[in-house]
Formats: sequence, C-alpha cells, structure tokens
Amino acid sequence: MSAVTHTFEDVKAVILSAHKNNTSKEKVNFYNSWAENYNQDVAVLDYRAPSLAAKCISSNFTGDREAAVVLDVACGTGLVAKQMNTHGFQHFVGIDGSEMMLRFAKDSRLYQDLKQSMLGEDLLPVQWDSFDVVVIVGALSVGQVPAAVIRDLCKATKPGGYVCMTTRSNHDNLEYKAILEQEMKQMEAERLWSCVEVTEVEDWERAVSEQEDGYISGVVYLYKKL
Ligand SMILES: C[S@@+](CC[C@H](N)C(=O)[O-])C[C@H]1O[C@@H](n2cnc3c(N)ncnc32)[C@H](O)[C@@H]1O
Repeated sequence: MSAVTHTFEDVKAVILSAHKNNTSKEKVNFYNSWAENYNQDVAVLDYRAPSLAAKCISSNFTGDREAAVVLDVACGTGLVAKQMNTHGFQHFVGIDGSEMMLRFAKDSRLYQDLKQSMLGEDLLPVQWDSFDVVVIVGALSVGQVPAAVIRDLCKATKPGGYVCMTTRSNHDNLEYKAILEQEMKQMEAERLWSCVEVTEVEDWERAVSEQEDGYISGVVYLYKKL
C-alpha cells in the first residue's frame, strides 16, 4: 500500500470525482486507480461497514467457524475478510470486478481463491449451495452492484447458511435501498431465506457530499438461507 496520507478533504475529492462514472466499467476503473490508497482513505472516512458486518455474522453464526467457507463478494482489498478473521473465520473466497483491488486482496494472504467478475453482467463464478457465509459490504449501492444480484448470493449459500449485506441510507441511495429491500422481502415471501437481523447504524461513515455533513447512516442485513 502507498504511504500517501490523505486529509478528509482529499478523500472527499477522490470520491466525488467518481460520481461522474456512470457505467459499471467506469466505476471499476475508478477502483483500479483508488486501490493503492483505498485502505488508508476509508480509514479517514471512519468506514465501519466491514467491522459491523463481521460482528453481525459472528454474533449469529453457531457453526464451526474454523471450518466455515466464506464467499466475500465485491471483496475489494480484503477488509471484510480481515475483520472476519479476527472473529475466527479462516477460509475465504473473494470476487471483485477490479483487477487492482484484487491484487491487494491477494497481498492480504487471507483468500484461498480470488476471481475477477463483473457482478450483474457475468454469471457469479461459483457453485450453488457451497458457502457457509456469503457477505457483500460497501457494494450494494446506486451505480455499483445491481440489487438483483442478491438472488445469486442466496443461491451460492448452503441451506442453513447466512447472507450478510450492507447498504447506505443517505439521500442519493434511498431509491436503490427501497428496491433492494423489496427484493429481500420478495425472496422471503418465496421462502428462499428468512430475515435474522436488520441493524440500522447512525454513524455509518463520514458524509462526503455537499448536501450532507457529519455521518451518514447505513444498514447491515443478515438472512438465513432456507
Ligand atoms: C466500496 S468497495 C468495498 C470493498 C470491500 N467490500 C470493503 O468493504 O472494503 C466496493 C467494491 O465493489 C467492487 N465493485 C463495484 N461494482 C462492481 C461490480 N458491478 N462488479 C464487481 N465488483 C464491483 C469495486 O471494485 C470495489 O472493490
């Protein structure tokens, strides 16, 4: 990772520069260019989603966590696996669209396997019914991973396994969040999974848009596959 230390204003400028990216390819190219500074920059934002998701999974998972296999979708540089590892999980497979983010995930030495794939465009490159936990953090939001992908996350999970997802609750993501929650409820009605926990978090991460200040809020969802 780079030794560059960015101020909050620097990080804000980097993220706002990505708002002009409309296609998923452009977004992933943005992550390619951000990868080297990503870990330091999200620390400046007080980005807590990986630790909140890991804590939610850990407090509900009753199986053998040393043997459990976790699919980390949109794994980025590996912050979620790093947090889950502190809770005793040891086996991770990562998927991301960004080659550079995957390069840093590889350097973390936490993943048994890493695959490059564009979620929402490519077929999820895993076998169905094969993971004890599937987790997606920081990627279910407007302009990133389409909400419909959560059906495939459920398919990839073993019956009885868990799917943990996060999203932002700030203004520009509200329409996406409503679509996501509708899909979650529809899948519950189809008896594909049941809701275990929904945690609304006020201090999700520091706001970067001109319209917001302080912290934006976010949500951690945990579902159990039936
Ligand atoms: C905010 S980062 C989150 C990374 C990691 N989960 C974390 O919490 O630190 C979002 C990640 O999603 C990936 N991503 C965004 N849209 C994607 C898509 N459509 N297909 C695959 N990866 C995507 C990006 O490359 C990036 O690594």
